Amino acid sequence: RRRLVITGAASGIGRALTMRLTRAGHDVIGLDRSTEGIPHAAQALRCDLTDSADVTAAVERISTSAPIDGLAAVAGVPGTAAPSAVYAVNIIGLRRLTEELSRLTHKNGSIVLLSSMAGYRDATTDEQADELLALPAEDLKKRLVEAGLDGPSAYQLSKRLVHRYATLLAARLHPADVRCLSVSPGPVSTPILADFRATMPSLDTAGELVGRHAEPDEIAAIVEFALSPDASWLNGVDLRADGGLTALRATQNV
Ligand code: NAI
Repeated sequence: RRRLVITGAASGIGRALTMRLTRAGHDVIGLDRSTEGIPHAAQALRCDLTDSADVTAAVERISTSAPIDGLAAVAGVPGTAAPSAVYAVNIIGLRRLTEELSRLTHKNGSIVLLSSMAGYRDATTDEQADELLALPAEDLKKRLVEAGLDGPSAYQLSKRLVHRYATLLAARLHPADVRCLSVSPGPVSTPILADFRATMPSLDTAGELVGRHAEPDEIAAIVEFALSPDASWLNGVDLRADGGLTALRATQNV
């Protein structure tokens, strides 16, 4: 029985993951901006990741009982949101909570960050990403917003930064025996798929090529494995969970 924290637990992939882990008998703390929708078998915590006071309060609640064995940072918003909101949730809020919880994570624990195949569409280099990720939250937000990207491009950049942040964190936490990796789904049939469709025409090509979109539980199963001790030798990598999209694109000239 492990003690695991899941963000975005009220909907889509995070909800499916919470159901899987509670069914398996784990102790799950589900975080979301509203507790409505968080499966009853989990301990529900309301936390808006864009609000630093909320994050601090959530971490205090989590830290009072015992250390944790893992975190899945699943919450995210699509590129239909304002760029500032996309950055605030997908990278700045994710990083704020992950930094705090990584300190409470047990030896042999694991951290899984939800990124996206969209992150591979952003051309930011590792050096540029490292420079951005070295900035404190307020400066990072300012720099990202000043870049002037539209919502979909801001989404891609936010997910690119999640890839790199997972790599940096894996190296940093290696001495503490805590693993960190990211998972990058292609399109998944969740409530935000319609928002992604509105901003990323490539989603429809992806659906046509692969034949369908993923179900949230198919991605949850991969995250469940990545969190588990069975994945002990997976560290610092990004798992592309795209149903074959990368292979099809690479061989069909599309
Ligand atoms: P969803 O909309 O069903 O779930 C996202 C959850 O995040 C919601 O429960 C929402 O309330 C929560 N959330 C949003 N802002 C928050 C905030 N400020 N504080 C706390 N919680 C907040 O979407 P889905 O599809 O399950 O997305 C999960 C993750 O998967 C996201 O990071 C998304 O970017 C990523 N993803 C989704 C894909 C898709 O096609 N659905 C494809 C690739 C990546």
